[in-house]
Order: sequence, then structure tokens, then C-alpha cells
Amino acid sequence: MRQIIINTPTKQYPVHIDSTQNFEPLVHNGKVLVVSNPKVAGLHLSKILPKIMAKEVYVCIIPDGEAYKDFKSVEYILECAFTHKLDRNSLFVAFGGGVVGDIVGFVSGIYQRGVEFVQIPTTLLAQVDSSVGGKTGINNAFGKNLIGLFHQPKAVYANTDLLATLDSREFSAGVAEIIKMAVCFDKQFFAYLQSASLQDSQSLEYVIAKSIEIKADVVSKDEKEKGLRAALNYGHTFGHVIENLTHYKGYLHGECVAIGMCMANDLAFKLSLMTQEEVDCVKNLLAHYNLPTSYKIADVKEFWEKFFLDKKSKDSKITFVLPVHIGDVCMRDDVPKELVIEVLEQYSK
Ligand SMILES: NC(=O)c1ccc[n+]([C@@H]2O[C@H](COP(=O)([O-])OP(=O)(O)OC[C@H]3O[C@@H](n4cnc5c(N)ncnc54)[C@H](O)[C@@H]3O)[C@@H](O)[C@H]2O)c1
Ligand SMILES: [Zn+2]
Repeated sequence: MRQIIINTPTKQYPVHIDSTQNFEPLVHNGKVLVVSNPKVAGLHLSKILPKIMAKEVYVCIIPDGEAYKDFKSVEYILECAFTHKLDRNSLFVAFGGGVVGDIVGFVSGIYQRGVEFVQIPTTLLAQVDSSVGGKTGINNAFGKNLIGLFHQPKAVYANTDLLATLDSREFSAGVAEIIKMAVCFDKQFFAYLQSASLQDSQSLEYVIAKSIEIKADVVSKDEKEKGLRAALNYGHTFGHVIENLTHYKGYLHGECVAIGMCMANDLAFKLSLMTQEEVDCVKNLLAHYNLPTSYKIADVKEFWEKFFLDKKSKDSKITFVLPVHIGDVCMRDDVPKELVIEVLEQYSK
């Protein structure tokens, strides 16, 4: 059992990381609305409900999947909240992966101008990344995560026991985000991941804690993504294009990020920020955790144009997050187009 305190200018809150089956009680002096999806609720709700000590506890189930991270689900959760007469002293609990976490964070941020919420993330990706930092949001026809707000949770409970039922691809997708943090911020952590297997709950608890520590440090310095926090988008600039080109089907988000990291590294090599040996080292680590490291680009021009759909590309300039060796990172918006095209062409053969 470990505890990490997240310090942001707006809020301070604990992340509890546990690898025992002993779930910590969640005590709340008011009503609680637990939001989950059928899969997670079916597998794990019975473990956490008895641990919630509150005046009244209600459960709201939304459909499973990224396609339901939308206004319909927001309306449905709001309806549940109004039906059960939740008030400003009530608490929302997000019990699921990043999809549930992002929607519940958003709904609790707008319900009666904002009430508190707790994250109980049930995927590895949500435990190491999305549950911490306060970014919330939903998708619409214009794109992913375009509607949302910053709303920090009251607390996060990450229990590795919940991850036992996760399918292996979903697990690996979470590892991609862990590798992302190591490459950008911590060389020793990278070395640890090279020798770890993440099969036992102790090493899993350690890597989750380490990833959260890294994210906590970044978020405490830059809560609203004005600078450093954007470094967490390493692998995502290329990854988002792959997600878009494959219509969010076929590859999981973490898998696209894994391929995106390989592409970013090839670019970093061309700019002499990384050696070929380091580029290979990251690729091997991704492959070690069964993540994809390549993608066949059918049309280089189309791939290039898709960069500009990303809301993070301001004024038609693309900001690339590039590793500086392993353990450091930089952001560059001055990369010559020819170099990027050269990298993309490597992937089109
Ligand atoms: N807010 C942030 O900072 C942030 C950061 C990264 C990603 N995200 C968002 O997170 C979402 C992706 O999150 P995700 O990868 O957790 O996806 P997800 O929430 O869709 O979960 C993936 C699948 O695993 C299932 N699942 C969840 N827990 C399980 C368990 N314990 N056992 C078995 N199955 C389980 C889910 O029902 C789902 O089918 C995206 O919408 C992304 O935009 C947000
Ligand atoms: Zn991501």
C-alpha cells in the first residue's frame, strides 16, 4: 500500500495504490452515485459497494465503449443524479476505465456547478494516466475530447487486484503509457521496465506508483497544459493520426501511442537527439510488452495532412514531443517538413 499526494494549484488529493484484496473503505457524509459500465460492474462492483460507507449509495450504469463517451451518457448520468436528488454535498464515483473516468469527471464538474468525485480506475491505463491530473471530457462529431473541463478528483484508489480480469491487449496498452513516462522522464525507471515482467502484484504496484509520481510531478508544475504537461503527448502526435486513419478500430489507443513513440524516436534520431541504439532500445521494450512498433502508411501525404486535425497543433505548426536520449524530453515546433516526411516514408515501404 502506497500513497502519493497530488499537488495542483487548485487542489491537493491522495492517490492510494494497493495490491492487496483489501479495499480501503470510502467514507462520505452524503449521497454517493457510483457510475460504471456493465462489464466492470459485473466483474467487480460487489467488491467495492460494501466498502462505501455513505448516507445513500446509488449505482448508474452506462454502456461500455469509447463510442458512449458522449452527450447521451452525460445526460443519462445527470438524470440518475437528479432522480436520486443528489445535492452539492454528494459524491460521484467513477468505477471503470478511462472512458468512465473522463465522463464522470466531466459530469461531476458541471452538476450543480461542480461537486466532488472519486476515481476508482479499473484499467492499467486509467490507473497510471487518466485518473490522475484532472483532465475530463467527452467526444462529439468534431473529434475526441473536444468538450471538457479541468476537474480534479477528491481521491484516487488504484487497486491492482482489479486488473486481473483485464485482457492482455488492454493491459499492454496501459504499459505503453508507462513506457512513455519512463522514456521522457526517468532513465532508471526505463531500465527497471527492461528487466521487469509486471506479472506479480508487487512489481505492478511499484510501476503504477512510479508512473503516478512522474505524472504528479508534471501536473503540479503545469496543471493546465501550458508547457511541460504537453510532454505527456509523446507518441500521441503520430498516434492520433493512426487512430484517426484506422477509425478508432483495430488498434487500441495505447497501441497507437506505442507506434507513435517509434515514429517520434526515428524523428529524434534524425535531429541527433537520440542514438540509433536508444531508438532500438525503446522499440525492443515495447515489443517485450507485446506492443506494436510499426504501421504501414498507405499515403504519406494524407498522413501529413492529418497532423493538422489535432487540436494541439496551433497556427499550422506541429509541436513534436521528442525524447532527448532516454530520460529527458523536448518539444519542438521547428522540425523541417522534409525530415518528418522522410520518417513517414520509412513506414510506407
Ligand atoms: N483524462 C486523461 O488525462 C486521459 C488520459 C489518457 C486517456 N484518457 C481517455 O481514457 C480512455 C481510454 O481508457 P481505457 O483504455 O481505460 O479504456 P476503457 O475505459 O474503454 O476500458 C477498456 C475496456 O476494458 C474494460 N475494462 C475496464 N476495466 C476492466 C477490468 N478490470 N477487467 C476487465 N475489463 C475491464 C472496459 O469495459 C472496456 O471494454 C479514452 O477515452 C481516452 O481519451 C484520458
Ligand atoms: Zn494516451
